[in-house]
Amino acid sequence: MKDFIFKMPARVRMGIGLSAEIGRILKEEYGYKKAFIATDKGIVNAGIIGKIEEGLQAGDMDYIVYDALIPDPTIEVVDEAADILRNSGADVVLAVGGGSPIDTAKAMCMLQTNEGSVREYLFGGTKTVTNESMPLFCIPTTAGTGSEMTAASVITNNQEKTKVSVTHENLIPKMALIDPSLQLGMPAFITATTGMDALTHAIESYVSLNAEPISDAMGLAAIRMIGENLRTAVSDGSNIEARANMAVASTIAGAAFMNGGLGVVHGIAQTIGAVAHVAHGTANALLLPYCMKRNVVGNLEKFRQIAVALGENVDGLTLREGADKAVEAVFKLAEDLRVPMKLKDVGVTKEMFPEIIEGTMAYRLLAVNPCKLAPKDVEEILEEAFA
Ligand SMILES: [Fe+2]
Repeated sequence: MKDFIFKMPARVRMGIGLSAEIGRILKEEYGYKKAFIATDKGIVNAGIIGKIEEGLQAGDMDYIVYDALIPDPTIEVVDEAADILRNSGADVVLAVGGGSPIDTAKAMCMLQTNEGSVREYLFGGTKTVTNESMPLFCIPTTAGTGSEMTAASVITNNQEKTKVSVTHENLIPKMALIDPSLQLGMPAFITATTGMDALTHAIESYVSLNAEPISDAMGLAAIRMIGENLRTAVSDGSNIEARANMAVASTIAGAAFMNGGLGVVHGIAQTIGAVAHVAHGTANALLLPYCMKRNVVGNLEKFRQIAVALGENVDGLTLREGADKAVEAVFKLAEDLRVPMKLKDVGVTKEMFPEIIEGTMAYRLLAVNPCKLAPKDVEEILEEAFA
């Protein structure tokens, strides 16, 4: 076994209906005085912020709501929100939403104690995070990103049409508050695509060259839970048990990939997010099976284990046949969930390929993808996923 470091991410607290207690937790258990709720208008319109406000009021906690965050946050939006937070008088941030508000809030909290613009802290930038962030509590409203567990904040650079992250341990939130009841109203399509994002985290970290036994255990557990619950969460969104299992699986997968890393699926997804504005979950859901097909030779045994975790019977099969079952199982899952399965259907054109290939090759975690990939390999994946 190789040497490794496993970083324990954010503390997790899970409870159905937990958001009703949020005020008491922040005020009585932690002694905070005023919360800055960082969210977007979609979350407000879904009625979720109303429930959080009730929970804060019940605990007699002072708060303000800032709902100007956007999907795929830009440098400008992050810097502006960080300024507003600085002048708000709040002593804790409560991020409520999917990956975008949580990622934005991580960067905002970092910028309270580290000078300058978020632009300077992005991968390859001129500054390094040195100081502890302002405390951040996260309430995920999707079961997908796992961002509540990780050290990364993905930011869009509109000028350069790239998505790049700030990654530092100081960005890890203080606590993830998982309340599956907040996810009961999530539309089927969002449930499906964000759930596939979580599955992508679990699979990419499990087969990563950076994988180690602890992230492996978490990755496999998440794969199994998602395989057993995602179809139900999509077909019957009111099933609280399936919602709870998906919410917890997504958080486990977040902890797995913070340690194990990701791979080519996220490399391409992040790039087509910036180039063609394809939502992160949709991009991953679409690309995952095609990338698995390309990666399967990189670790046959682990892909066979994925097949088993997804409920496939591999008895009597060769190692290669068993590994291929994992690819088949994920194609089948994507079909059942009715997520888009071709790039041409989500706004990607062949003219974009050179830019997508270049962006993917520049992706930091491509280095831990189980197969070494050249631009030609990425092009082949894109061709197969195109039409
Ligand atoms: Fe992701």
